[in-house]
Parts: sequence; C-alpha cells; structure tokens
Amino acid sequence: MSESRSQLWAGRFDGGPAEALQQLNDSLPFDRRMFAQDIQGSWAHVTMLAEVGILSDEERSQIHDALNEVEREMATGVFETQAGDEDIHTAVERRVTELAPEAGGKIHTGRSRNDQVATDLRLWTKRELHELAQLVITFQETLLRRAEDVGDAYLPAYTHLQQAQPVTLAHHLLAHCWALARDVERLVQTLDRVDVSPLGAGALAGSSLPLQPERTAALLGFAKVFDNSMDAVSDRDFVAEALFDMSLLGVHLSRIGEELILWSSTEFGFVSLDDAFSTGSSMMPQKKNPDIAELARGKAGRLIGHLTGFLTTLKGLPLTYNKDLQEDKEPLFDACDTIRLTLLALDGMVGSLTFNTDTMAMQADNPFAAATDLAEFLVNKGMPFRSAHHVVGALVRSALAGEGSLPALVAASPELGPEAAKLMEPGASMRNRTTRGGGGPAATALELDRFRSVLTAAKQGLS
Ligand code: ARG
Repeated sequence: MSESRSQLWAGRFDGGPAEALQQLNDSLPFDRRMFAQDIQGSWAHVTMLAEVGILSDEERSQIHDALNEVEREMATGVFETQAGDEDIHTAVERRVTELAPEAGGKIHTGRSRNDQVATDLRLWTKRELHELAQLVITFQETLLRRAEDVGDAYLPAYTHLQQAQPVTLAHHLLAHCWALARDVERLVQTLDRVDVSPLGAGALAGSSLPLQPERTAALLGFAKVFDNSMDAVSDRDFVAEALFDMSLLGVHLSRIGEELILWSSTEFGFVSLDDAFSTGSSMMPQKKNPDIAELARGKAGRLIGHLTGFLTTLKGLPLTYNKDLQEDKEPLFDACDTIRLTLLALDGMVGSLTFNTDTMAMQADNPFAAATDLAEFLVNKGMPFRSAHHVVGALVRSALAGEGSLPALVAASPELGPEAAKLMEPGASMRNRTTRGGGGPAATALELDRFRSVLTAAKQGLS
C-alpha cells in the first residue's frame, strides 16, 4: 500500500491502493494517446461552464491557459506522470490543477470520466476512421491506375481455383476495387454513428447544474448530441462497428494478399514482385518471398480477434458504465495501427509489381477456357443450353482422352465446325464477353468509367 493517496477519488478512502490494483487499473500507458482529444473535450466543457455562469471568465481563461500548457507538455514529451495518474483524464486534470490551483478545482464540474472517456474516444475514432477511409481510397487509386495501364491484357479467371473463363486483367483488379468501395461506404456510415456527443451525460444521469450538452457538442464539432444519459456512457457500439469495418476491410486485403501469393509463385508466374516489397530467405539464395501479402493475410486474423474479443467484453454488461469498458481502447488502437500499416504496405506492393501479361495470356488462351463460348455458339443456333453443354462436354472428354486437340475436334464437329473453332483463337473468348459488368474489354471500359465516378464521389464525400 502506498503512503499517501493521490487519486482524484481519494477523499473517501483510508489507505492507498494495492500495487496489483494500480497496475491492473491504470490505463494511462495506452490512453495517453488520446491526450489531444481529452484536452479538446475539457476546453469545450470549460467554455460552456463559463457561458452558463458556473465559471467566471477569469477562471475559464486560467483553465484554458493551463490546458494549453498541458497540451504543449504532452505534445513535446516533457509531461511528467505521477503515481496517481490512473488515466489520461486524471493526468490532465491533476496537472491543470497544479498550474491553476483555484480554478483547476472546478474543471470537473458537472462531468464524470464516464462521459469524458466516451467523448474522447469518439473524437479519436472520428479522426481515425476518416483517415482510414482516405487510405483505402489511395489504395483504390493505385489499383485503378494499374487497371488503366494494363489495357486489354487478360488472364484466366478461376472458380474453385480451377481455370474458368478469361477476363481482362483490369476487370479482375476492379473486382477488388468494388469490395474496397463498400469498405469506404461502411466507414462513412459508421462515422455517422460515431458523430454523437456524450458530453453532459455525467456519470450516468445528467446533472442538476444548468449544463448545455448541445453547446459542447457544437464546440467539439459533433453532428448530434446524446438522447439518453445512460446510453451515452455505456454505448460502445461505435467501437464494435469500427472493429467490424476494419475486420472486413482486413479480410478483403487478405484475399488480395492470397492472390498475390499465388500469382507470384513459380507455378502461376503472373506477377514479379519489386525488390523493395519482397524479402529473401536466410538459407535459400534463390528465394523472393511475398511477405507483405502473407502478413496482409495473417493480420486479418488479428483484426477479427479484436472484434470477437470486444463483442465478448460487451455482451454481459449491465447498464451503465462498467470498468470492463476500459478494454475498448487497446483493441481499437491496435486494429487502427494494424490496418493502416497493412494498407500502406500492400499499396506499395501492388503499385510496384510487374504483371507478366504474356504468361497470363498463354494460360487464358488454353482452348478449354473457351468451352462455355462454344456452348453459347450452339445456343445462338437454337440449341437448348443443356444439350449444347453436353455436346461440348463430349468433345472435351474426347480431347482429354487423346483423340485430338480440342480446336481440331471442334472444327470437325458437325454441330460446331470451323467458325466455332475461331472462338478458341487467342483472346477471342475474352473479347466476346460484352454484357454489363462482364469481363470483356468493352464491358471493362464502361466499368472503369463507373468506378471512376464512384471514387470521385467518395473522395468528395470525405473532403
Ligand atoms: N480509464 C477509464 C476508461 O477507459 C475512464 C473512465 C473511468 N470511469 C470510472 N467510473 N472509473 O474507461
């Protein structure tokens, strides 16, 4: 037990806290990251308190000056913490009170750390998700640039990881862009629910003092103000939602990573990685490894872990604030750091790799990949699709049995013939796919236009 009690709540206690309690309880090591938001929140609270006559103008400016000084100390790293500084809120208030002893004692009027921490975390999350959405857009721009630069290059697309039908490389890259567009949309929608001020809810029930929660909300740039003081201090839906958004974004990056791992293998040979974004082996001199892509895949597991962990924390909590809620910050902070780094590294990797379009085309021109086109050729002549499927399937079986090449068998087939065999010429099958959102070059050109508009709108929405 420590000798003297420096905690804010020491008045009611006889002895000091046990060492183990203090270590378990303290959140300053990780929540000091919200110091700017804590100071911002206090600034607004004090401004409002002066406006409603609870503080004099003199007291308000003394506290504002002290807050400025604390911000400077924190930002420059000279802030000295003390044993009783449980969390960022305690540390800031303690220092403000040292700097402005009389006025500082009034800073916490009508406020609890319960509404304070929720305010700080919402301010922090708002800024972070906004920046994250912008980073996703930057990555989409890289994918778009690569899609524009590869022109009509094409490759086999896969189902069950078996070659299925050829598509333009741009179409394949855009498929990932659309998934990322939904991530941006989701982040923006989440931001809407983050953008609610809980300040003024007090510990859980509001206040007998003439506080103006609408005023602090406006001063802090929140779009809305809480409707229920109990919900305001216990709601961490915004953290769970942000963790979900980042998990799904992480899953999308993981799937891109998985493809890059396959594509950079000797067996596929579809891409060559830039030296700056790949690693070597300590033993095997020939190796060039796609570590970034593997980490993108690996980090998704960590993000999903944060989401499930935090939902589990929330599920048993009665209203209103419980200390379990302090467990919101570490997963959120780590998820934000993780997804940021992953995005940046993957962006560099995709931006710098080389597409081996000859290898892609060679694989895509495998005559078997045109089998669906052959069946559709027969459909155009009036044959029911099921019968057409059967006719082409029989030819594929003969080719596989060594009775001739598929093009030769098709040319000799009474139903198909030489005209149909042309569908197996290089690139022909891919060019034939013309329907909206399909994989041919004409459809891809229209898709590129649509995607550019979506991206421009998303960028405008964020600025
Ligand atoms: N450090 C706490 C947290 O992160 C702040 C709120 C403390 N509230 C309380 N009633 N002890 O949740």
